[in-house]
Amino acid sequence: MDKKFKRTLITSALPYANGPVHIGHLAGVYVPADIYARYLRLKGEETLFIGGSDEHGVPIALKAKAEGKTPQEIVDRYHFLIKKSFEDFGITFDIYSRTSSEIHRKTAADFFRKLYDKGEFIEKTSEQYYDEEAKQFLADRYITGTCPHCGNERAYGDQCEACGTSLSPLDLIHPQSAISGSIPVLKETKHWYLPLDKHEPWLKEWILNQHTEWKSNVYGQCKSWLEMGLQPRAVSRDLDWGVPVPVEGAEGKVLYVWFDAPIGYISNTIEHSPDEWEKWWKDEDTKLLHFIGKDNIVFHCIVFPSMLKADGSYILPENVPANEFLNLEGEKISTSRNWAVWLHEYLEDFPGKQDVLRYVLTANAPETKDNDFTWKDFQARNNNELVAVLGNFVNRVLVLTHKYFDGKVPARNELTDYDREVVAELAGVKPLLESNLNQFRFREALKEAMNLARLGNKYLADTEPWKVAKTDLERTATILNISLQITANLAVAFEPFLPFTSEKIRQMIDKSSFRWEELGSLDLLSAGHALQAPKLLFEKIEDEAMERQVEKLRRPTD
Ligand code: MF3
Ligand code: ZN
Repeated sequence: MDKKFKRTLITSALPYANGPVHIGHLAGVYVPADIYARYLRLKGEETLFIGGSDEHGVPIALKAKAEGKTPQEIVDRYHFLIKKSFEDFGITFDIYSRTSSEIHRKTAADFFRKLYDKGEFIEKTSEQYYDEEAKQFLADRYITGTCPHCGNERAYGDQCEACGTSLSPLDLIHPQSAISGSIPVLKETKHWYLPLDKHEPWLKEWILNQHTEWKSNVYGQCKSWLEMGLQPRAVSRDLDWGVPVPVEGAEGKVLYVWFDAPIGYISNTIEHSPDEWEKWWKDEDTKLLHFIGKDNIVFHCIVFPSMLKADGSYILPENVPANEFLNLEGEKISTSRNWAVWLHEYLEDFPGKQDVLRYVLTANAPETKDNDFTWKDFQARNNNELVAVLGNFVNRVLVLTHKYFDGKVPARNELTDYDREVVAELAGVKPLLESNLNQFRFREALKEAMNLARLGNKYLADTEPWKVAKTDLERTATILNISLQITANLAVAFEPFLPFTSEKIRQMIDKSSFRWEELGSLDLLSAGHALQAPKLLFEKIEDEAMERQVEKLRRPTD
């Protein structure tokens, strides 16, 4: 699969607008997607990075009911909070829009209508649970009951959260309405289904034979779905919150949230570039990538591609780099139990420390298996890596240059053999970073960037310019020139990962921007170039701050 593409369209899962975003969202989806988008832009590649809120679905309707608000009021509250969190953390979406927008309703309805007209759905009447008190059908989470697999008494109509099994409402033992608490009755209703069974043969060929390079967690999940055999999936629901089904006689029915949400990627592209959106979605030269969490794999690898294929005019994703889950202090992150680190709260407690969290979440990213975030590890990585390695190196180089060369880049003289070794290692960083980034191995890539800072520190420790300066200023000049070139290279290498820090370094060395192609060069700063005053990049985090965070976690929800 070495096809050359002209441009890359990056989508990141649209978070549900029924709560704020937490570190699990950031680690699993948005930081990796942003690293990748920044990397491509730095390389000068044509890139579009799409985000937005997923604003339909039963949980939002239920939350509105519980709070005596309209669903629109609920999503308005969280959409803007989520959008701001992403901005604050430097997630560089080209657009962050929402699925309650007019343009989305129209795009999703048109999408459905085209498939309907082409005969791509099957229409089925079946018996579904109905709440006679509330006078409505009970889709998905509107119904609860006992899980037939594990006995959990609070399983939902679409899934049991205790054992993770996906369910249909008819599977539940002792079903109960989540609206009135009454026992529902069965009543006939008509819905439209996407016949995934019909799509199975090409999906098998496309994924299992043509995309063996997909991450093993993604490939493995697809393989097991495809081997179990696919069933038709309902794409409509009896609900009053969502995109109305655009067909006569479908009053009171809306598109299933998992049908309309991925179309949100398309609507947001249309909103961003109304005249050019088709080039992003319908041109074979566009590389489409979906960044998601593991619970979204089936929808992005099987259901959405089947929708795109059924339409016939769209490209398919080239890769779906899904991550596993991030746990918190050894336990599953849970919104309802408030076992989470919310991004907006993190920034209140650690103002200006966006990059510390970006660093820790990338270093610990759940790329191939679930991973754990602990405050102890957060502190250790800040103190022992960001402060002691990266921050320390950059600061020492700048302070020494100000001390011995009046803050101007000194000229290089002859290199020693040891200098040449260091320079060769510097030159090797770019291919290492690229091969990891190209394969979505962000942890490894970050490690390589940090190794460059380690190399710098070791170089200073070995050459001891502060001692050499007493006798040989020419040699000191060479050492500091090389060290300053490494510093400038760090600004390039870290730009995708730690954008705020990269910018601070660029300010100190008085350079407004770099291109990725310059990475590895020994000539990023010319002799005589004047530097700005050094400022600390990171500061030590004390035990008390960590203890406060752990305590805060254990406090009950307010
Ligand atoms: N809202 C979904 C979730 O949080 C993700 C939707 S991704 C999209 O799991 F493709 F449907 F937009
Ligand atoms: Zn269960």
